[in-house]
Amino acid sequence: MKGEELRAIREKRGEDQQGFAGWLNTHLNRRYDRSRISRWESGAERIPQQVAGFLSGGNSAVAGSSAPAPSGLPAIRRAVIAVANQKGGVGKTTSAVNLSYALSTLGLKVLLIDGDPQANATVHLGLDPGEIETGRKGLYSVLRAGASFDAILQTVCGGSFTLAPSSIGLAAAETELVAEPDNSLVLKEKLFDIRNRFDVTVIDCPPNLGLLTINALAASDLVLIPVQTEVFAGLGVPLLMETIAKIRRRSNPSLNIFGILPTMFSSRLTQDQSSLREIQTHYAGRTRVLPAVPRATLFAQASGAGRPAIEADPNSASVQAYAELARELAAHLSNADARHAS
Ligand SMILES: Nc1ncnc2c1ncn2[C@@H]1O[C@H](COP(=O)(O)OP(=O)(O)OP(=O)(O)O)[C@@H](O)[C@H]1O
Ligand SMILES: [Mg+2]
Repeated sequence: MKGEELRAIREKRGEDQQGFAGWLNTHLNRRYDRSRISRWESGAERIPQQVAGFLSGGNSAVAGSSAPAPSGLPAIRRAVIAVANQKGGVGKTTSAVNLSYALSTLGLKVLLIDGDPQANATVHLGLDPGEIETGRKGLYSVLRAGASFDAILQTVCGGSFTLAPSSIGLAAAETELVAEPDNSLVLKEKLFDIRNRFDVTVIDCPPNLGLLTINALAASDLVLIPVQTEVFAGLGVPLLMETIAKIRRRSNPSLNIFGILPTMFSSRLTQDQSSLREIQTHYAGRTRVLPAVPRATLFAQASGAGRPAIEADPNSASVQAYAELARELAAHLSNADARHAS
């Protein structure tokens, strides 16, 4: 493969050399950097066989296509990740939807579960929660009416990934589950049947620490915590972490925090800058603080159009934090797989 061909592939993916290196590293388990990509593109260094083979191997993720293409991917440990924060409006749904799509462009099979009766993820992906409710095709039917996940799953974004939609009827599950034995484990039990079909399952949680969130955490391996960069940004996070610690002790010892995702960051606002610094300093050495998602109107526009922003405008600088998040999660899961195997 020639340098120009590699550059053409990179440009088609809309990535700079650093981003492209990160993407290759995720797939090939290497540690290439920006300067290495630059040397390959200029012809100063030969492109390794493994890289050339991967890039010309028909992997649809290379061409930016949304169809899953497991060939060429390193082994990934399957994982369920809950997107949770009991504070409302911090970007949970936006993050769950954009992360799901970004993971699918890496060739991973992704399931997004809309775990919130507000059904914002369902609407965000262009579905009508009213129809879900009347057709009994939502998460409530799975948790409470004996339906299997297969009865409600729908593919979204042109087949890029799969959604388990929800509707307002899911709110009833919150009270009905109270009388259920082992009522925090209902979602986990239901997920058991389909656990091998998806590489990553993302759960969008409601803005509270009720039974739906507890079920999501009990069924998950990882938690992503979106935190808005604003005054008192992290106020509710210690309570969420305490809840996670309790669930780890009592029912799910493998639950870990994947990281904090600062959201709606306006780099021009001094308040946002100091909130971001506070989050970074406070959690340094304790948990990953991911690259901040900038505040941009693209997110509301795309959700109004029933699409993830990263699908609507993959080259926009505003969505790169989600591309980076997906790469970091995939890299974490392939490393986890290596540790698991050793
Ligand atoms: N990076 C961003 N820039 C600008 N607006 C954003 C961004 N992320 C999310 N929003 C907007 O902020 C609002 C809240 O976002 P979102 O619904 O994702 O939060 P949430 O935590 O899921 O809310 P809830 O707690 O109600 O479920 C939405 O209108 C969304 O379009
Ligand atoms: Mg939400």
